[in-house]
Amino acid sequence: MPRLNQKRRVLITGCSSGFGLLTAVKAAQAGYDVVATMRNLDKAGYLTKALDQGGTTATIEKMDITNPDSIREIVEKHAPIDVLINNAGILIMGSFLDLTEAEVRRVLETNYFGAVELTRAVAPSMIERQSGIIINIASLAGCVGHPFNSAYAASKHALIGFSQSIRVELMPFNVKVVSMEPGYHKTEIIRANANLSENFYNRKSPFFEWNRGFLRLMMDRVIPKAGEPEAVADKIVKIMELDKPQLHYVLGRDARWATRFEWLGLGQWLACKVFEKLEIARHRENRRAEYKKKRRKQTPTTRTQES
Ligand SMILES: NC(=O)c1ccc[n+]([C@@H]2O[C@H](COP(=O)([O-])OP(=O)(O)OC[C@H]3O[C@@H](n4cnc5c(N)ncnc54)[C@H](OP(=O)(O)O)[C@@H]3O)[C@@H](O)[C@H]2O)c1
Repeated sequence: MPRLNQKRRVLITGCSSGFGLLTAVKAAQAGYDVVATMRNLDKAGYLTKALDQGGTTATIEKMDITNPDSIREIVEKHAPIDVLINNAGILIMGSFLDLTEAEVRRVLETNYFGAVELTRAVAPSMIERQSGIIINIASLAGCVGHPFNSAYAASKHALIGFSQSIRVELMPFNVKVVSMEPGYHKTEIIRANANLSENFYNRKSPFFEWNRGFLRLMMDRVIPKAGEPEAVADKIVKIMELDKPQLHYVLGRDARWATRFEWLGLGQWLACKVFEKLEIARHRENRRAEYKKKRRKQTPTTRTQES
């Protein structure tokens, strides 16, 4: 598509919610020509509303990053792209033995292969024009392993490895590569988009109680302390402006602490602390389940007598 204005064009994936949606709005407000993509246009209403409320506009396109045809079509239509933000991602929770192979592949296909495929489609024109910036939204889970999230952590470790490697490859062509590593933030990935493995509640699994305990820990201790996603979107837009961005940006208190522990060689200590909390959550969840079971066994008459 020929460029009608001199604005820098930014293509963002996964704009139906969360970081993608907020970044699309903030980048448009900052004067970028935003191509906001999402795999399901039925969800475009949230973005349209946010753009309206923000007094700005963006081009909304359908793109599923696991579909190479969809990637090719949108990249050709909107070339040349100045800034690429590989943001789309999914999460499937459950112990590594309970995740099915298909689930593991789905996570890797989206969080790693999707980003790689899109980067390969966009990079040639950046190389040709000797300019561009690629921002990959990885995760704290890409720096430090995450129990009951092994597929997700593996996909994000892979994405960080990819970013670190191509950053050097693209240096001669003045194309910058950035990896962002946010900790937990209040977006749909830990709410409506949070997926549990199909075996998560399989009572025959040795991990049954641990899966449940992990979920309890998330609900009670982790999610309530998650950061506000606006801070991440603000940072992404700031980075887009930089001439010399860093390779890594670790965002959020939890992420900063956890990565510091790792860098100080305290990874084992941190793992033990997480395990302690997990064990407490598992006991609490078992007690809760026992209580619920007892209540269910009580006949309605007994309950009436009690009250
Ligand atoms: N929030 C956090 O705590 C956190 C922390 C670290 C890293 N991250 C990363 O941040 C990125 C954005 O996530 P978020 O937190 O903003 O969560 P989110 O609100 O769930 O957004 C994820 C977005 O990715 C989209 N998506 C999923 N699969 C896709 C596919 N095959 N093709 C195109 N789009 C797809 C989703 O679309 P649908 O609506 O159609 O599902 C959604 O728009 C992800 O890469 C995530 O791993 C998040």
